[in-house]
Amino acid sequence: MPTSTDDLVITGGTFDALAVIADCLREAGHSTIAVEDPSNPHLLRMFTAHGLEPVPIAVDEEGLDVSRLDGSGCRAVLVTPAHQYPLGVQLSPQRRRALIDWAIKGDCLVIEDDYDAEYRYDRAALGALRTLAPTVVAYLGTLSKTLAPGLRIGWLAAPAWLCASVRNRKHVGDRGDNVITQAAVREFLGTGGYDRHLRSTRLQYRRLRENLLESVSTHLPDCTPIGIEAGLHVVIRLPEHEQDSTLVEHLATAGIRVAALTAYRHHHSGFPGLVLGWAQARPNQLATSIQTLAGIRGILASERRTPAARPGLRDSL
Ligand SMILES: Cc1ncc(COP(=O)(O)O)c(C=O)c1O
Repeated sequence: MPTSTDDLVITGGTFDALAVIADCLREAGHSTIAVEDPSNPHLLRMFTAHGLEPVPIAVDEEGLDVSRLDGSGCRAVLVTPAHQYPLGVQLSPQRRRALIDWAIKGDCLVIEDDYDAEYRYDRAALGALRTLAPTVVAYLGTLSKTLAPGLRIGWLAAPAWLCASVRNRKHVGDRGDNVITQAAVREFLGTGGYDRHLRSTRLQYRRLRENLLESVSTHLPDCTPIGIEAGLHVVIRLPEHEQDSTLVEHLATAGIRVAALTAYRHHHSGFPGLVLGWAQARPNQLATSIQTLAGIRGILASERRTPAARPGLRDSL
């Protein structure tokens, strides 16, 4: 995405960038920010801690329901248009246009979180929203998915006024981020190491993802994997009568960490599901985890059929 150093800031990752942007928005008179529903609950907590009230806006199969922004009272929105987090839908071309129109008409800010732009499988990469309207879109990228979250490096490409404001706040707040790590990353980029790393991880993830899909179709035939055209996580959609939070608890007891989709929902209800980050697993680990999940679902289903006659699930694990 073409940009100049005037409208680019290196950040300590997406969360750092959003925390600083929240402070800048509050200083500019904002008291609310629109967020997708469902979305990462930690982000909502972070906005609240920085004095902005998050206003959840529903996401459907075309992405964020942009028509609801007008009535939201917000003049800024955080959106994941390329691969909605966690549902994985892409913002439709009509909604992309409507979002930009909303921002231009109302002098609003669109914050585009492109957290996993580097990994696309069955879907072509879409251009960033920022390229359509650089005066109203702030674009966020991160090394957390491609390299490691512990690096705490990301970038913000934003309208010049916002970059100046973010630079100013970072200068006062934390004196900027760790330049030694940044120098190491620059070297990695300059010597072609990062490109090689992306090429090899893309192949590795493609294979892992195929293994995962195979396991889901074999062991969880009544569940649908969602949003797996891109990125490093999947939502496993469960039948309506199943409780994702109960399943998550039992999986944790078996040593498998996944999140319940209901924990990502704020005001709007929807189908139950499991949010599963799969990129760090080994292929056999993924297959075993999916089999364990299938086994637990089977026990829970038989407990639902004859609650009194069966031993508790915990006794069976
Ligand atoms: C929606 C979303 N965007 C971005 C990130 C990456 O954040 P960071 O760059 O601060 O590690 C995450 C990680 O959890 C996320 O859930």
